[in-house]
Amino acid sequence: MRKPSFLMVCCALTLTLVGCNISEQAETEQPTVSEQEPTTTPEESPTESTEENEVNDVPEAEAPAEEAPAEEAPPEKAPPIELVPTEPIERDGQANLALDTLVLVNKQIALPSGYKPEDLVTPNIDFVDSATGERRMLRQEAATAVEALMKDAKAAGIDLRGTSAFRSYDYQVQLFNAYVARDGKEQALKYSAPPGHSEHQTGLAIDISSASVGYQLTQGLEQTKEGKWLADNAHTYGFIVRYQRAYEAETGYMYEPWHLRYIGVEHATNVHEMNVPFEQYLEQLMD
Ligand code: DAL
Ligand code: ZN
Repeated sequence: MRKPSFLMVCCALTLTLVGCNISEQAETEQPTVSEQEPTTTPEESPTESTEENEVNDVPEAEAPAEEAPAEEAPPEKAPPIELVPTEPIERDGQANLALDTLVLVNKQIALPSGYKPEDLVTPNIDFVDSATGERRMLRQEAATAVEALMKDAKAAGIDLRGTSAFRSYDYQVQLFNAYVARDGKEQALKYSAPPGHSEHQTGLAIDISSASVGYQLTQGLEQTKEGKWLADNAHTYGFIVRYQRAYEAETGYMYEPWHLRYIGVEHATNVHEMNVPFEQYLEQLMD
């Protein structure tokens, strides 16, 4: 496994509670098991369970002889936010939002309760009917990426739909409490994040499922051609399958083949190739 270079570090880092009741949530979130049916709890099942340089449109003959070579021309795009190598992953258990699309949120690191991304938009993709309002939203960059993913999936005969994207702190309160009431806290913590600790609040995570499993959030998705397509291709759009079976001990969550987290194509490709939890990747990146 190669370790990310400093250059890589400095690369581009850069129910609706209204109208949404708990029973609806439980249907969508639980693994058909999991965030769905207690019996087989999938997620919960223990056995487990060019940027190209701008083309210079000045005809060659007319270009001044001294003109700098195209490759030396300054980039047209605004420079990406740089990640200082010493940038902390968190401060006192609070997520470092300066990490932007690399922000780390997990069982130990939380977002402020009032945090809501400012650039939420609704991607033009198919969603299950139960996903409504802001629960269809993602941060702009992630939304654009998932639109490309869904478009290419559809072209490849892969039938996918979003089931849950942005979730506010307050929504997560309702959701988590409903799971605790249903399965007990110990079990709920294996598949649902307590308020403030869900990546869904970052606007960078989306749950995606397929027709072949009835658009349920079930570990059975792994065995389907759609689930395999997601596992093999999501990184090329900037997403990682965040909660892998092999990472259960480190993440504290059951395997969730449906939960995609956007971190950008370069980093997602690195994580995919290194096959390490996001936590471990970030630690190496910050070294
Ligand atoms: N299911 C994931 C862990 C969440 O609730 O954010
Ligand atoms: Zn999720």
